Amino acid sequence: MSDRDGAVLPHSYRALIALGDGERPYVRLDRLATSALPDHPVTVRVEASSLNYKDALAAAGRPGVMRRYPGTPGIDAAGTVLASRDERWRPGDAVIVTSYDLGMGTPGGLAELIRVPGDWPSALPAGWQPADAMAFGTAGLTAALALQRLRAHGLDPGAGPVAVTGAAGGVGSCAVALLAQQGFEGIAVSGRSETEAERLRALGASALWTREQLAEGSERPLRRADLAAAVDAVGGEPLAHLLARVRRDGVVAAAGTVAGAALATSVFPFVLRGVALLGIDSAEAASEARAEAWQLLAESGVLERLRPSLHDVGLEEVEPWLAALLESRVAGRVRVVLPAPSSPV
Ligand SMILES: NC(=O)c1ccc[n+]([C@@H]2O[C@H](COP(=O)([O-])OP(=O)(O)OC[C@H]3O[C@@H](n4cnc5c(N)ncnc54)[C@H](OP(=O)(O)O)[C@@H]3O)[C@@H](O)[C@H]2O)c1
Repeated sequence: MSDRDGAVLPHSYRALIALGDGERPYVRLDRLATSALPDHPVTVRVEASSLNYKDALAAAGRPGVMRRYPGTPGIDAAGTVLASRDERWRPGDAVIVTSYDLGMGTPGGLAELIRVPGDWPSALPAGWQPADAMAFGTAGLTAALALQRLRAHGLDPGAGPVAVTGAAGGVGSCAVALLAQQGFEGIAVSGRSETEAERLRALGASALWTREQLAEGSERPLRRADLAAAVDAVGGEPLAHLLARVRRDGVVAAAGTVAGAALATSVFPFVLRGVALLGIDSAEAASEARAEAWQLLAESGVLERLRPSLHDVGLEEVEPWLAALLESRVAGRVRVVLPAPSSPV
């Protein structure tokens, strides 16, 4: 079939469909009509995607992620532009599309095609394949945005220990690897610090803490200030512990909610130590900040550190991985690789 600009597109494409009617993630692989994609200007052939905690919530029908069921989840995609009515993008351009409304109200990246507004794609950094970007996906973008914000706040590699919570998960693994690559002393805080010790060390963690170690002394609103900064991928109590342990003028970048959305803390870290709490929002991050973050990931060479933490799966293998993500059983990152369709249908 032809797009409005005359580009030849396949009549149909394979996509995962979430029904949103279960407690557990449930998706089925289906073939959908290309004509049913939304009327946005940029059509992308997805060559790789990845799985994030948010995708697991969406596939399980949890409120607040997908706006309509049935629908295609997937907040991440990378591939090649097939057709574009936006002057910024041309057929053949290699792009990364993450977040905004992708996999929420707009059919997501766990599919062979997506069609998105022209503001959403970022150019794939030179030297990368789409699958390289999806080794990181939104998790890596978030870690890179967090590091950029910490550095803009004045944090330097020599500043001292930087803790990362949820270190065995997606955002956490990327943050541990990126901090190490940039010369920071990273402490990986993990509920799996024993079983994942070898992998976390290989990612570049200088030290490993259990969740209990992070919580030590939590009866006091301020504790021994033994951290220069932190990247928090979990929220809730662990975030409060980090704030109480960061030293004078230290800084915490908060990105996650998996341990809870409520934050019970005192004002003492802020008013007695000048600690700063920075919120990280990758979903609506400005395109300039995204481009810089992707460039940082591509130029840092951190992909090589992350590679042993990657699980490559096909579209038909995604469901059990979503279930494992929802239960925090995934160590590292799950990348979804979509081979080119054998012939347009
Ligand atoms: N703000 C943003 O822009 C943004 C972007 C991406 C993701 N996120 C959020 O960041 C969080 C992590 O996402 P992800 O994709 O990395 O998920 P993930 O791969 O499932 O990792 C989450 C990790 O958090 C830890 N964890 C789970 N339950 C916990 C608990 N009760 N207490 C303490 N730690 C716990 C686990 O690590 P250990 O076993 O190592 O402890 C788990 O592997 C999610 O809340 C997600 O929604 C936010």
